[in-house]
Amino acid sequence: MIYLDNGATTLPKPRSVADAVAWSIGHLASPGRGSSRASEEADDMLYELRITAGEMFSCPPQQVILTTSATHGLNIAIKSLAGPGDRVVISGMEHNAVVRPLFAAGADVQVARGRLFDSNKLLEDFDRLLTPGTSACVVTHVSNVFGWILPVEEIAALCSTRGIPLVVDASQSAGSLEVNMEALGAAFIAMPGHKGLLGPQGTGLLLCGHPVKTILEGGTGSLSRQPEMPDFLPDRLESGTQNVPGAAGLLAGIRYLRRVGIRTASERETELRRELVRQLRRIPGVEVFYGENQAGTVSFRVRNRDCVLLASRLAEQGIALRAGLHCAPLAHETAGTLETGTLRVSYGPFNTRQDGKELCRRLEKILERPEIEETLADHR
Ligand code: ALA
Repeated sequence: MIYLDNGATTLPKPRSVADAVAWSIGHLASPGRGSSRASEEADDMLYELRITAGEMFSCPPQQVILTTSATHGLNIAIKSLAGPGDRVVISGMEHNAVVRPLFAAGADVQVARGRLFDSNKLLEDFDRLLTPGTSACVVTHVSNVFGWILPVEEIAALCSTRGIPLVVDASQSAGSLEVNMEALGAAFIAMPGHKGLLGPQGTGLLLCGHPVKTILEGGTGSLSRQPEMPDFLPDRLESGTQNVPGAAGLLAGIRYLRRVGIRTASERETELRRELVRQLRRIPGVEVFYGENQAGTVSFRVRNRDCVLLASRLAEQGIALRAGLHCAPLAHETAGTLETGTLRVSYGPFNTRQDGKELCRRLEKILERPEIEETLADHR
């Protein structure tokens, strides 16, 4: 299989990640819950993860919260900042992990829509909408559909001068681009563990720089006589036993990334993306979405072809990518691709130039057959 769906989850993971998961299952007990060495070692490992991630993202270790996903972190962040009727400004590239919690919270959502790959226009829209009384601003660092790197530093500066708490969704940037909590002055940054950070699925981190509301209450192994959740981090947000094997794998993923270097990984992915854009544009009928500020993700569609059907044809040919709306209808609405969706290639650290070439070769072959013939073939 040629795997080009790293925006969904990175695959393969480094060997050290699998080893760390297996080792922790065999050796570590519940952190903060017992007096055994195995329990203390689990606690030490979680602390090591907070320190390592804190160093990578410039965040104090106790403010690094273990979550199950970026979605989990975004729910905590959004529900801490926005309630019914509160005005929240978001970009036109947001994922349902932002849109749905805001909808559930009953917030008054204003969209700084911008234009795909036009950072100046986007900043103008944010500038206009970030008015006094805005409760929060939520922005994705990189669009999961188009790979557009949004101008988060400039948006952060607008928020900071206007005293508006900022939430950054770093789902597609953590591990691929620099993410700096201190420099952004963000209230929250949410990220998954299983994408750029190379950890297992079911892991994530929330960097907290703002008072929080809990969305889950329970045992923390601390202040057990009191019925309320502790008011200090990380305990306030980590009730129930943490995903210890997942955290061990995530720590190994982050350590691997530190050895390779985020800049090296990102430059490689950008180079692969540039080459793929060049190759895709040569194929008749293919419309490619590309721009200046683009990470290692590319969306494209093919005239008169159904993108989900094409993706399954490619899967039969051993190419794994994602097609459709990518859980981000707002981004497709902004780009004008809501009716068709797109096919998306998202590069990861183990892809090579050959992978993009093979995708184009196999795509061209598939496109030699008219779609009607393919549809009939389905019924044979
Ligand atoms: N949000 C992830 C993606 O873009 C799962 O595929």
